[in-house]
Amino acid sequence: MIKRVSRLASPRKAAKQRKTARFANGPAVHFNHVTHHYGRMTALDNICLKIEAGSFVALVGASGSGKSTLMKSINRLITPGSGDILIDGKNICDDDPYHLRRNIGFVIQGTGLFPHLTVAANIMIGLRISGRDKDEARVSELLAMVDLPQDFAQRMPDSLSGGQQQRVGFARALASTPGLMLMDEPFGALDPVTRDALGESYRRLHDHLGLTTIMVTHDMAEALLIADRIIVLDSGRIAADAAPSDLLNNGGGDVADALVAVPRAQAQKISEMLR
Ligand SMILES: Nc1ncnc2c1ncn2[C@@H]1O[C@H](COP(=O)(O)OP(=O)(O)O)[C@@H](O)[C@H]1O
Ligand SMILES: [Mg+2]
Repeated sequence: MIKRVSRLASPRKAAKQRKTARFANGPAVHFNHVTHHYGRMTALDNICLKIEAGSFVALVGASGSGKSTLMKSINRLITPGSGDILIDGKNICDDDPYHLRRNIGFVIQGTGLFPHLTVAANIMIGLRISGRDKDEARVSELLAMVDLPQDFAQRMPDSLSGGQQQRVGFARALASTPGLMLMDEPFGALDPVTRDALGESYRRLHDHLGLTTIMVTHDMAEALLIADRIIVLDSGRIAADAAPSDLLNNGGGDVADALVAVPRAQAQKISEMLR
């Protein structure tokens, strides 16, 4: 917690450092008037959004605000009732879903690892999509990328801590060298210290690989610390769309202000205690 507060102190400096580190080869993602209903429930209501190549976007909002639906519409786990989604200018409906998903990494809360397969075999599932599932050198490279020791390859998932398992989840998602990463509450099941460390380490990977990352989180503090841009959803609509520093300066409107108020008050209380 203390670490988080100290990092809150200089978001501008961190953003500047990131800008110089980045080289983007992840794609741009555009939403044009995307609407989706589940029965009579409007989950997405005329979403128009341009996500720049190489950016790290957090989708924040109350439970049921449409975050997961928006995310799943990008890799066609759901097909919106109307509107278009373009990846690097290409309508995703013109692509074969299998080919589309090969270029998109997907990380979910709780890892989704197969408990009866070794770490290597779990990572190789990510490689199977690209027809390289016997590529042990790639497994080794991926373990190094997510800072796991090489001898973890033959371990079973339940012999790893939650944070280590989530690192395997990242390795599997990165296996087919996607440019775009979709992450739905990727750190949600982890304790705060592990969560913070993994968040920082993923952010470095995002910058190093030049990825485009879209991350769903209900934790505004996490979004403020890790993302370049925060989209706040409210009942399927975009209630705010701003940089973390703008949101902290009350630049996001009422819904965003209510979400930012909690980490801001916590940060203030803790810095007073430290005086
Ligand atoms: N498969 C589904 N069938 C019916 N309603 C759904 C389904 N998935 C989500 N919803 C509803 O759509 C709304 C948005 O859900 P979701 O995108 O999962 O929100 P979030 O991820 O922000 O919690 C919610 O009201 C939810 O109950
Ligand atoms: Mg969700």
